[in-house]
Amino acid sequence: MKKLTIKTRITLWYALLLLFILVVFNIFIYMVTSRILLKSNEDLLVEDTRQVFSIIQSEGYFLRFETPYKIIATNSYFVIFDSSGKTSLANDILPELVSLPIEKEQIRYVTVNNTRWIVADTEIKIEDKTAGWVRVSRSLEFTMTVLKNLRIIIYISIPLYILLASFGGFFLASRALRPIDRITKIAMEISKGDLSRRIKMKKSSDEVGRLADTFDEMLDKLESSIKKERQFASDASHELRTPIAVINAQVEQALSSKRKLQEYREALKTVGDEGRKMNHIISQLIMIYRSEEGRYKFNFENIEINEIISDIVEEFKTIADSKEIKIDFKTEDKIIVKADQTLITRLFINLIENAMKYTGENGKISINTGQDGKNAIVIIEDTGIGISEKDIPYIFDRFYQAESSRSGSGSGLGLSIVKWIINIHKGSVDVESNINKGTTFIIKLPTAI
Ligand SMILES: Nc1ncnc2c1ncn2[C@@H]1O[C@H](COP(=O)(O)OP(=O)(O)OP(=O)(O)O)[C@@H](O)[C@H]1O
Ligand SMILES: [Mg+2]
Repeated sequence: MKKLTIKTRITLWYALLLLFILVVFNIFIYMVTSRILLKSNEDLLVEDTRQVFSIIQSEGYFLRFETPYKIIATNSYFVIFDSSGKTSLANDILPELVSLPIEKEQIRYVTVNNTRWIVADTEIKIEDKTAGWVRVSRSLEFTMTVLKNLRIIIYISIPLYILLASFGGFFLASRALRPIDRITKIAMEISKGDLSRRIKMKKSSDEVGRLADTFDEMLDKLESSIKKERQFASDASHELRTPIAVINAQVEQALSSKRKLQEYREALKTVGDEGRKMNHIISQLIMIYRSEEGRYKFNFENIEINEIISDIVEEFKTIADSKEIKIDFKTEDKIIVKADQTLITRLFINLIENAMKYTGENGKISINTGQDGKNAIVIIEDTGIGISEKDIPYIFDRFYQAESSRSGSGSGLGLSIVKWIINIHKGSVDVESNINKGTTFIIKLPTAI
């Protein structure tokens, strides 16, 4: 079966609930009204009986009494039986009511010729002996007509109410859900490929308005992240194409004619360098890819920063010596941070590697660590080429390289990874730099509590 729309479902539930409420409510009203009307008839019957008795008593002996019935209410009738059950006096009471058997002290409801009657028999006692019976009856025609009309009103009004309320409910539900139809239409257009479409609802803080706003915000984010993704993919393929082109050129040139051994060596060295460069780019890209996918499994533990840095410094010693760069690593106490060891190691490798790469011969790299209560502070200072003021805002962007460093071995991914790792650890990184004087990176990482 086709699923009903929300509009129809809301209307149906609403109508069903209203039907239930109306039925219960009307049954209650009907029962209370009929009880009140019948009770008032019973009270009148008792009153009529009392009147008949007062006349019988004032006359002394009921059989002598002539035309007392005139005095009781118009739709009341009575009959007096003597002790043997014979009729002794009556007003215009129907014979069918007279012929009913006597039932002591009980109010009865009987139907005669399609009319309901209420009947009460009361014993006449003289000197503790049954002298006869008084039967009083009232027609319930009027009461029954009132109740019948009430029933008709109920039968007509319930479906009418339901019909009107359903129309009203359907109208209101359609109005409330109209913006959703709009959202669906726009979402369909977007799914066909037009990512620039937005719902742009009039400012409203209701549920649908909030949904539309959230939807638009989500689309903004989605569009910008797709743009970034495309940019990233094109940058990445471009970065990888360059070393491949160099390798191809080298190989083709080497194979084009017979070469000296030394030339083959040089070609192979270039191929090897470019291969390493690609390896470096690919491993950086994999790291970025994992971070973007949220697939990197963090392993936070208490680690000592100085140990990590001194290991890295040790690794760089050989290159530093060959470039005649002096690495000065100063530290005081142990500094413990809660961090992922692999990532923190990568963070400092990337920064120290940059300092090495962008510092010329006879330069100096100073690394100082300390803490200020809440944070571990690591300052990495070099006497290298420096970064110009216009480049500083972009150096943490992916693939960004300052003009002066484009010919080098890097790909411009190192600092974007640094930034990501800093963010993961809720730390901060600041840069100060002077062209041809040097660069200082200041890293802060929250210390373990
Ligand atoms: N210590 C530094 N001194 C001078 N310039 C720097 C320094 N660190 C970074 N830069 C500049 O910032 C740019 C971005 O650095 P990043 O580490 O992201 O890329 P890269 O070093 O060029 O390549 P990769 O790190 O991917 O091998 C560099 O290209 C360089 O221009
Ligand atoms: Mg780098």
